[in-house]
Amino acid sequence: MSKILVTGGTGFIGSHTVVELHKAGYTPVIVDNLSNSSVKILDQIEKIIGVKPAFHQFDLCDVAQVNAFIAANTDISGIIHFAASKAVGESVQDPLKYYHNNFFSLINLLEAYRKKPINFVFSSSCTVYGEPDVLPVNEAAPVKRATSPYGNTKQIAEEILEETAAAYDNYQVIALRYFNPVGAHESALIGELPIGVPQNLLPFITQTAIGKREKLTVFGDDYDTPDGSAIRDYIHVVDLAKAHVAAIQLLEKGNPNGSYDVFNVGTGNGYSVLEAIAAFEKASGQQLNYVIGPRREGDIIKVWGDVTKSTNELGWKAELGIDEMMSSAWAWEKYLSENPIQ
Ligand code: WQD
Repeated sequence: MSKILVTGGTGFIGSHTVVELHKAGYTPVIVDNLSNSSVKILDQIEKIIGVKPAFHQFDLCDVAQVNAFIAANTDISGIIHFAASKAVGESVQDPLKYYHNNFFSLINLLEAYRKKPINFVFSSSCTVYGEPDVLPVNEAAPVKRATSPYGNTKQIAEEILEETAAAYDNYQVIALRYFNPVGAHESALIGELPIGVPQNLLPFITQTAIGKREKLTVFGDDYDTPDGSAIRDYIHVVDLAKAHVAAIQLLEKGNPNGSYDVFNVGTGNGYSVLEAIAAFEKASGQQLNYVIGPRREGDIIKVWGDVTKSTNELGWKAELGIDEMMSSAWAWEKYLSENPIQ
């Protein structure tokens, strides 16, 4: 079974992708420095797939450890690279942490494979589009100057990958531009595990509903949208995980589009914050305590993806709707309240 290196594999999207890789017949190998996740996620994954995935704890910014690992694991045929710092607000406060971590880890991995064929799937983001001029936004849309160092690291990483794949003949690369990942595995054994106060909407909603947070603040209801709140393309994390398996499969088959390609990974549907809250209340049966507050600095108003290319050329399409996103997120929060994972 093809061995796939999953960097950041104990994280939210990484752990769900490890499960889907195993189900598709691959052998996932996790490398994670546990800076933003818990080692206990390995036990949770084992409860789902029946085997504990191989795990190596080290920092991908440590070139010696990266090279030693690659030398000892010569049968890795593909890499799915999740490991990166990803909090928009933190990146504004500490840009050097983001540039150092996100670029050194990527470049160390690429250089370790300088002479070896490798299929490489990169975790990118719709944040590279900024505030799109046309909606839904497709992959040909212009990349706009990011509004945060986090977003800038995604843009520059895509450029590094595109130029690397063009210059050398051993890298086959796909960048997946995620929209907003939410929800949890149907088992409620893995899900989003924010450390500290959640930055993202869904964990803040579920933590408010379970009573860990007093109330949710909606960051602005005076935007130029039907109900005034900002619009996003929320995608179920299991659908997102399956897109990574599809990307590895396309690279193994040979991507007719060439050695570097980009795909939007969303549902193509936009939901406003207030619509997301209503969907959560309907799916969970919980009345959410929320207030309207000021806009959040750096937020874009509305974005949702054109996923035609992913459907036609990646052979992937999201299957789970907003109801399953909300009910699975809620089931996971309830599981965590009885089975804390630190
Ligand atoms: C969604 C909407 C907020 C919290 C970012 C990155 C993206 C990806 C996901 C990493 C916005 C509103 C949120 C709250 C709110 N990166 N909101 N109250 O900013 O769209 O995307 O995170 O995983 O690349 O750009 O996601 O969940 O923070 O916000 O009203 O307490 O919810 O204003 O409109 P975002 P988000």
